[in-house]
Parts: sequence; C-alpha cells; structure tokens
Amino acid sequence: MDFQLSAQQRELIDATRRVCEGKLRALAQEADTPERVASLRRDMAHQGLLGLNMPQQYGGVGLPLLDTLLLIQIIQSVDAKLGGLTHRTSTGAVGAVLELGTDAQREQFVGGVARGEIGISIGITEPDAGSAATAMTTRARIDGDQVVLNGQKIFISAVKDNHYTLVYCRFGNTGRASDIGAVLVPHDAPGFACSSGTLNMAGERQYELFFSDCRVPRANVLAEGSAFAKLISVYNAERLGSIARMLGSAQAAYEYALGYAKERKQFGRELADFQGMQWMLAEMKVKLEAAQLLTWRAASNANAGLPSPLETSVAKVYVAQAAKEICDDAIQVLGGYGYMTEYPVEARYREVRGGSIYGGTMQIHKNMIASHILGRKLSQWPTGTKE
Ligand code: COA
Repeated sequence: MDFQLSAQQRELIDATRRVCEGKLRALAQEADTPERVASLRRDMAHQGLLGLNMPQQYGGVGLPLLDTLLLIQIIQSVDAKLGGLTHRTSTGAVGAVLELGTDAQREQFVGGVARGEIGISIGITEPDAGSAATAMTTRARIDGDQVVLNGQKIFISAVKDNHYTLVYCRFGNTGRASDIGAVLVPHDAPGFACSSGTLNMAGERQYELFFSDCRVPRANVLAEGSAFAKLISVYNAERLGSIARMLGSAQAAYEYALGYAKERKQFGRELADFQGMQWMLAEMKVKLEAAQLLTWRAASNANAGLPSPLETSVAKVYVAQAAKEICDDAIQVLGGYGYMTEYPVEARYREVRGGSIYGGTMQIHKNMIASHILGRKLSQWPTGTKE
C-alpha cells in the first residue's frame, strides 16, 4: 500500500492544470452554444483531455482509472465545464460501449468520443423511476434491422451538446431488472424529441427525452436485455468520475478560502491569525484528504477491471457529504463575500450539491453498503413483488 502519488502522476496533474488554466478555461466560459462546445471538445481532444481511460487503440489516452480521476479532479478545479467534458468522455457512456459493445461500436462510439467528434449522454432516470431505476418503462422492440423505442427519460445531461444518448430500456415484459438493455439513440432519429431543458442549481441544463416509435438501426443496440447488472457495474466507474468532479470543486473552494484567509484582515489581523479560522481550514483539509483517499482506493483497486460496488458506494457517501461541508465552510470563511456570486465559492457549493442525488442518492448508496456489511439482500421493493 503506497499513499504517495508518483512523481509522474504529480507532473501529469501540474501539466494538465497549466493547460486548462490557459486558453481552454476562457473557451469553456464562452461555450454556451452546441457549436462552441463542439469546438471546445475538439481543442480538448487535441490536448489529450478526452477519453482519458479509453484504450489508445480507440483513440483514447489509455490511462489507468486512478490517473483518470486525478485529472478529472484537477480539470474540474479549474473549470466545471471542462471537468464535465473530460468526465463524460472518459468515465461516461463510453465505458459501457467499451465493455458491452462490438468492435464496430467501439470504433464508432469510443473512437468518435475520444477524437472529440461526438458526445454521448446517458439516459437512465424516468419520471416514475428515479432511485427505483429498474422500474423504468421505456421499451425497445426489435423490428427487422431496426429497434423501435417508446417511452420517456428525465434529468438527462448535456443532450443538446451531444449527438447520442445511451438509453437504458426494457426489451422484455417481466418487469424485472433482467429485461433491461441499452440502445445508442442518435438525436436526429425519427420519433426522438428533447425538451428545451431546465437548469439545475449547478447551472447545467438537464433535459426530458421522448421516444415515440423512435426508430434506430439495430446496429446501435448495445444490449438486448439481460444487461442491467452489467450496465450498472460499468456505471460504478461513471459514479467515480462524478465523485472526482466533486473533489475538484471542493479542492477549488478550499484553495480559494485558504488564500483568502491569508489576505483578508479583520480586527487588524489576518483571518488566518484567528484560531476559529485555523480550525475550519484544518477540518476542510482533513475532509478533502480523507475523501481523496477513499476515491483513490476505489480507483486503484479497479485497475484490473471494474470498480468494486462497495468501495464506490463508500467513496460516494463520504465524498458527497465532505464536498458539501468543505464548500459550505469556504463560503463561511469568505463571509458576506462568500455568499455573493461574484466570488467563486458559492458556485462550488452549487456544483457539489447534486452529488448527493445524481448517480444514486446517498441513501441508496447507504442501502448498498448496509446490504454488504450485513450480508443480506436488502431489497426496497415490497416483499413478494420482485422475487
Ligand atoms: N454495482 C454492481 N451491481 C449492482 C449494483 C452496483 N452498484 N447495484 C445493483 N447491482 C446489480 C445487483 O447485484 C443485481 O444483480 P443480479 O441481477 O445479478 O442479482 C442487479 O444489479 C439488480 O439489482 P437490484 O438491487 O436487485 O435491483 P432493484 O430492482 O432493487 O433496483 C437499484 C435497485 C439498483 C436501481 C438501486 O439500488 C440504485 O442503484 N438506484 C440508483 C439508480 C441510479 O444510480 N440512477 C442514476 C441515474 S443518473
């Protein structure tokens, strides 16, 4: 067990921070249309910031998961839009294509994403299937060389900037998780519609998707049912990518508060001279380090395969809470200025708040941890409904 990052990892982090703090951050702040996001995506691909953990064979950078998360964290700490693009093109839907896809699908979708040509959203949640994701009713029916989808998704990220959504959907009628498979639906498919979107508190737009006899080539089917357990196992890597984004936001808030405490004076002294402030900063540091270590453990242990569900859930529960507390304390250190949108820490709080909800709520992850430590399947379904 080695708790030190290697010299190579530290150099990679520093170099990535420098690249992002230059032209890319400015471009990200102006990337408010799909065209500008497409251009930013190409610039990021050119700098080797997309598809970090995707194999080089498919145009990725070929980094281990741990290094990927280290870079997602530092990129997110520079700018949340850059962090989102690196996360979604590394630990996002491409992971499912890599694990479940054919060679042709990997070449088209993993390669396309890593080269910055396309983006893929993930569509799991439905209006009546949130935590109970396996209650989804969006259906897929094979019809010759096409697949026909009917249903609806909600809270789907980045749809207008992306070109496809990996739609989890039901291929059978048993109502069980085992019916669930996934289809890569192009956003120009007939029968596909997308809402104008709603802003979440992090300022990211989320969309409703509607499938009305939506026809897609059968070649875009990733799994015709019997794939939920596999899809959600791959999704644990996506969860770690989101966790790394929370760490990046918390790191940025902590670093800003630390700098501020050494400059701001009250009662004729620096804030950093007051023990109350010193203890707050110390607690932020402890939480950030503990949160990182749990995340890094889950990532390092996954390098030979997919992340452990238990280690992912443990990291998720701790990081989601710690990140909120670190960002909240950063606002407190800045006082009235922290509460103002012209200072960067309140946005960091808004960035991390969703982490307790998306990718499985903290309560769902605690169920999974409890299930593991008690050695019991703790189904949330009423007895007798899902056996
Ligand atoms: N990692 C690996 N496998 C997992 C898993 C995880 N985190 N969670 C569930 N699975 C597997 C189960 O082991 C089971 O496999 P099996 O069929 O081989 O036994 C299968 O997936 C179904 O899980 P189960 O717990 O029986 O499903 P359920 O119908 O009770 O639904 C979940 C519960 C999985 C939907 C719920 O725990 C969950 O994760 N909700 C959050 C959904 C989410 O993250 N949405 C985010 C969208 S942004």
